[in-house]
Amino acid sequence: PQTVAFRGVHQAGIATPSQDRLCFATFDVGPGATAADLRELLKTWTAAAEAMTLGNPVPGNPGDLYTPPEDTGEAAGLQPGNLTITIGYGPTLFDRRFGLAGRRPSGLVKLPHLPKDNLDPANSDGDLCVQACADDPQVAFHAVRNLRRLAFGTLVPRWMELGFGRTSSTTPQQATPRNLMGFKDGTRNIDGTDAALMGAHVWIGDEEPQRWARGGSYLVSRKIRMLMEQWDRDRLGDQQDVFGRFKSTGAPLTGKAEFDTPDFHAKSGGQYVIPADAHIRLAAHENNNGLRILRRGYSYTDGIDPETGDLMGGLFFIAFMKSPQQFITLQTALGQHDALNEYIQHIGSGLFAVPPGLAAGQDWGTQLF
Ligand code: HEM
Repeated sequence: PQTVAFRGVHQAGIATPSQDRLCFATFDVGPGATAADLRELLKTWTAAAEAMTLGNPVPGNPGDLYTPPEDTGEAAGLQPGNLTITIGYGPTLFDRRFGLAGRRPSGLVKLPHLPKDNLDPANSDGDLCVQACADDPQVAFHAVRNLRRLAFGTLVPRWMELGFGRTSSTTPQQATPRNLMGFKDGTRNIDGTDAALMGAHVWIGDEEPQRWARGGSYLVSRKIRMLMEQWDRDRLGDQQDVFGRFKSTGAPLTGKAEFDTPDFHAKSGGQYVIPADAHIRLAAHENNNGLRILRRGYSYTDGIDPETGDLMGGLFFIAFMKSPQQFITLQTALGQHDALNEYIQHIGSGLFAVPPGLAAGQDWGTQLF
């Protein structure tokens, strides 16, 4: 069976190869819950997550007719499908009454309003987040549902998102997938197997005063709606100018093959070949003082807009970085100048501190408190 190690220096689900499907949920701590309840729940979650990652049911007393089954059952007989369960803590968790104020990672404050944000609180924020990724959508959903079940009385679900197709490759062995605009996505992503790049851009390091957070990362989630009806009426040449890449091959407009390095200086007829407002020009590390992030997003759909009949869907963007400032810097530039803005809208947002991996015998509760 295909499994990904649950314990290690870092949590799985960041540098590990991105699976095909996602179930992402956030929770708030309920009004009656105490610090002890939260700590106990995180211990229970650890045991359940570790079991599910191995393809086993949530531990308990299977077959006991007098209690509800500990495991809801819908993943029985399915392969583990490389399931990873990654958790993170939102800024609000450290504002609350759990004695955690002195444990707050230094970058963990709500993201500022960024250009063209149109965020819905119903798709934003949360005290905790769970990212479950697997190659089988039912396995990913089962993981979140069972953590939710174990949290009855302690956590209240806030929002949930299903991702039906990965939009990034995180290791060079993976072919680059396409996003819902039909373009290859992830070509110049950070390679999760490159320890030097991961250390430089993704893992929280010794610069962080909170020792417990070192080896973790920051997760930024953005629900980005694509205005597909508009996009689908745009001519091919303009679509390619929006990204600065060819739609068929994924090559930069200055190259021939997908992995050719873009030439941001090349001009033709006095104009840049990769236009000044092209997405890759604005996002590239060459044009941002070396700044990079690890993208690990998924395509999502919410069906049809009842008012307009338009498709509702797009990119559920997830990125990992060692400081939220990396996202803020990039999105400030993209939000102001990106040609893509005509076809997208950011409608949800979240920032979470992802703790480092668990050593043998450790659980998420003892790690946090
Ligand atoms: C590159 C799509 C939003 C950061 C790309 C590429 C595509 C793409 C097709 C080129 C292939 C690649 O190198 O991966 C999209 C779409 C978005 C979106 C459809 C929204 C719906 C964002 C956001 C950020 C971002 C919000 C960060 C704030 C990047 C970065 C690159 C990139 C850093 C690599 C640029 C390079 O080094 O060449 N994106 N993207 N993207 N995107 Fe996005």
